[in-house]
Amino acid sequence: MEPVLLANIHRSDSHTLSGYESTGGYNAYRKVLAEMSPDDLKDLVKESGLRGRGGAGFPTGLKWTFLPKNHPGPIYFCLNADESEPGTFNNRILMEEDPHQVLEGLALSCYATGAETAYFYIRYEYPLCYKRLTQALEEMYAKGLLGKNILGSGFNLDIYLHRGAAAYICGEETGLIESLEGKRAWPRIKPPFPAIEGAFRKPTVVNNVETAACVPHIVNRGVAWFRSMGVQPDPNNPRDPGSFGPKLYCLSGHIEKPGCYEAPLGITVNELIQEYGGGMLDGRRPKAAIPGGISMGLLTADEFDCPLDFSGPGRYGCLGLGTAAVVVMDETVSMVDYLHNSARFFAHESCGQCTPCREGTSWSLKMLDRIQAGRGRLIDLDLLLEIGDTIGIIPGTTICGLADGAAWPLKNAIRKFRGEFEDFIKQTNPDGYAETSPVPALHEIHGH
Ligand SMILES: Cc1cc2nc3c(=O)[nH]c(=O)nc-3n(C[C@H](O)[C@H](O)[C@H](O)COP(=O)(O)O)c2cc1C
Ligand code: SF4
Repeated sequence: MEPVLLANIHRSDSHTLSGYESTGGYNAYRKVLAEMSPDDLKDLVKESGLRGRGGAGFPTGLKWTFLPKNHPGPIYFCLNADESEPGTFNNRILMEEDPHQVLEGLALSCYATGAETAYFYIRYEYPLCYKRLTQALEEMYAKGLLGKNILGSGFNLDIYLHRGAAAYICGEETGLIESLEGKRAWPRIKPPFPAIEGAFRKPTVVNNVETAACVPHIVNRGVAWFRSMGVQPDPNNPRDPGSFGPKLYCLSGHIEKPGCYEAPLGITVNELIQEYGGGMLDGRRPKAAIPGGISMGLLTADEFDCPLDFSGPGRYGCLGLGTAAVVVMDETVSMVDYLHNSARFFAHESCGQCTPCREGTSWSLKMLDRIQAGRGRLIDLDLLLEIGDTIGIIPGTTICGLADGAAWPLKNAIRKFRGEFEDFIKQTNPDGYAETSPVPALHEIHGH
């Protein structure tokens, strides 16, 4: 596939305004400001079928239409560059290597939605991105691409870089908004959705960096081009609007050539590993893969023909495509260790507002601590599954999707690798694996 989003990143000047303009950069912005109304651009993005790259795959143009019509303003645009999902670094590559592509996409998205103020919420741990974006914004202001009456069009836009608070929950859109407002990043109960009441209680759009980066290409090359890439809607599933456009995959784990690759939506895990990742590390056998960030759950090696489009991983019992960060594990990986790691992450990152999430994530960690310490019981596996099935917004018990993210690894690892968990428990706790109570306290296990 001809690279689109990564087309210019190998140039030494790809992060500068002159480098960007020499490859046609800002042509889309100039064209739109001169020839198109905001509604024209909104319609174009809607017709393109662009779906959000931040995790949920929500149709971007549709999201934009949720803003109130003829609102007197202000309307705010937040670009979500928090990128905290483990295994994910596609936003980082775009921001470091081609920041103007992202900024052109952001400026176009602001024009379409009527936002004259944008907040670029960037993960604190990305200093080079911050530096490059600061420089890129200075260049844009100096060239009259930001500010008042941009290129004589009457459109005004200011973009503020805002460094994040270094927590996973800052990436959740309403957590991000709270954090932007200077508060603790506690997600808000919805509705109202940000489109009605977002940053500073004004209508707000939140989009991901890669989503924005697609917009100039839709303007330059058209809807038919965009829809020619990817996977058509499933005729048997009226809820599947298809998966179109260029896509970045972050490939890591036990493969020869980890990296960020641009590949067609719908590529299978196997193809991604073989064609882009250079095969399994040292030729070892694969055991499992995360299809799109740790929250999406697991695929077994037998499921590596799973297509990586927005619907594919769901058909294999995963939450979805997520951020398209594929983490490959070979046969040396213990699923007990993997799940323990995942549980530790979610217990640490839960903001604690919702009881099922706060208690469920810490309870599952405590059980996995105990299993790892050789005091597991077979019944723990069912208890872990029960936690996985009862927390999250899908059963409707929590404010945000972090709890679902914690649930899917639990459900998938235990359902798909139950035998391995049972063997581990039987081997490490041969006398007590069937006991049901009492559960030993952690200090008894660790002996302090
Ligand atoms: C716990 C949690 C963390 C999230 N982290 C991110 C993130 O780091 N970056 C991101 O773009 N979206 C993240 N999201 C999704 C955002 O809430 C939101 O859906 C997304 O930014 C919308 O952009 P899009 O429509 O362009 O995908 C997260 C969601 C949850 C529940
Ligand atoms: S689901 Fe978890 S992270 Fe999300 S708001 Fe509730 S407690 Fe916080």
